[in-house]
Amino acid sequence: MSTGSKALKALRGQSWFCNGLLPVFIRSPTVSIRAFSATMSPPSKAAVYEQHGPPDKVTRVIELSPVEMKENDVCVKMLAAPINPSDINRIEGVYPVRPQVPAIGGYEGVGEVHSLGSAVRGLSIGDWVIPSPPSFGTWQTYIVKEESVWHKINKDIPIEYAATVTVNPLTALLMLEDVVKLNSGDVIVQNGATSIVGQCIIQLARIRGIQSINIIRDRADTEAVKEKLRKLGADKVYTESQLEVKNVKDLLGDLPEPALGFNCVGGNSASLVLKFLRQGGTMVTYGGMSKKPVTVSTSSFIFKDLVLRGFWLQKWMSSERAKDCRVLIDYLLGLISKGKFKYEMELVPFDNFDVALCKALGTLGRHGKQVLIF
Ligand SMILES: NC(=O)c1ccc[n+]([C@@H]2O[C@H](COP(=O)([O-])OP(=O)(O)OC[C@H]3O[C@@H](n4cnc5c(N)ncnc54)[C@H](OP(=O)(O)O)[C@@H]3O)[C@@H](O)[C@H]2O)c1
Repeated sequence: MSTGSKALKALRGQSWFCNGLLPVFIRSPTVSIRAFSATMSPPSKAAVYEQHGPPDKVTRVIELSPVEMKENDVCVKMLAAPINPSDINRIEGVYPVRPQVPAIGGYEGVGEVHSLGSAVRGLSIGDWVIPSPPSFGTWQTYIVKEESVWHKINKDIPIEYAATVTVNPLTALLMLEDVVKLNSGDVIVQNGATSIVGQCIIQLARIRGIQSINIIRDRADTEAVKEKLRKLGADKVYTESQLEVKNVKDLLGDLPEPALGFNCVGGNSASLVLKFLRQGGTMVTYGGMSKKPVTVSTSSFIFKDLVLRGFWLQKWMSSERAKDCRVLIDYLLGLISKGKFKYEMELVPFDNFDVALCKALGTLGRHGKQVLIF
């Protein structure tokens, strides 16, 4: 067996003699044979990368052998999992925290409990669960992990929402609540407003009585996109080229100057967010989709006293507040089930993984969030 295939086998933690084996005694007329009946997961189909590099070159779907389940393990049949920008960055090897290769892609998703280890008490077969906090390896048909990893959720929402609630909506909620104290009537400004995080910020802000100014990239269907964002609750939506004016604040009308800005793009788009901010305002950078740096004029610091911050969900997950993670997820799921919270997604069968990956990479033009359906 090659080193690569050995490593792939190890991906599923294959080990024949560990806890969780159930001894069974089989009697024959002449001898008594002691045999073991271990609980095994079904074989899994997984999107795996054996080395870092361009995701469409290094990722492929393969079959993984069944895994032996320990007494606290739960085998989950995955239902759906998204392809997020950070999943791409992990495969590229440019994300600061990433699993060792070979690795299975994906970091969040939803599944249905398929089988249980003998000591599992809190879950039943058929329950819907999400890994919470999120964890690596969700792009596969069956996952075996300890009971404590899984958070049981209600089945009253579409699977694509259950699959995507943990990374982007939670990020939007935390950035709105944790960085600057906002009150009803305040205003925020953001770029990347078409992203899932952006769509969530618009709606969560609206629920809190906070108004939003939204910046999008120029495109052919500008008016349709603006209208969609307005329907979600956006107060103002501008393309980047519309903001090439002497003073963007002239566009505010009767809106107060924003106290808080969100940047997931960088480059000129980040500068546009900064231009809107009020004296002493804060900009939080949480993504760098354009791969261009954030540049800030000296005068912004001296005369406007702007504050620049960053946000990273993975760091928050290791903070004291992360104990509230599941409560916050349930709050977001509740909004979804009441129809108060939505965002655009494109569902793709896992069999078409290659196409979904190319769409997520942008090599097949502009597409919405790709959600793999297993
Ligand atoms: N820091 C954290 O903890 C954290 C957590 C979650 C997400 N994020 C980050 O948040 C951002 C949005 O994530 P998402 O999953 O919500 O995004 P998404 O739904 O996959 O949408 C991608 C967004 O990026 C824009 N975009 C793509 N390529 C771009 C480019 N070259 N220049 C400018 N904009 C570009 C798209 O704009 P168009 O509509 O114009 O194509 C769209 O708004 C990403 O940067 C992600 O890494 C960070």
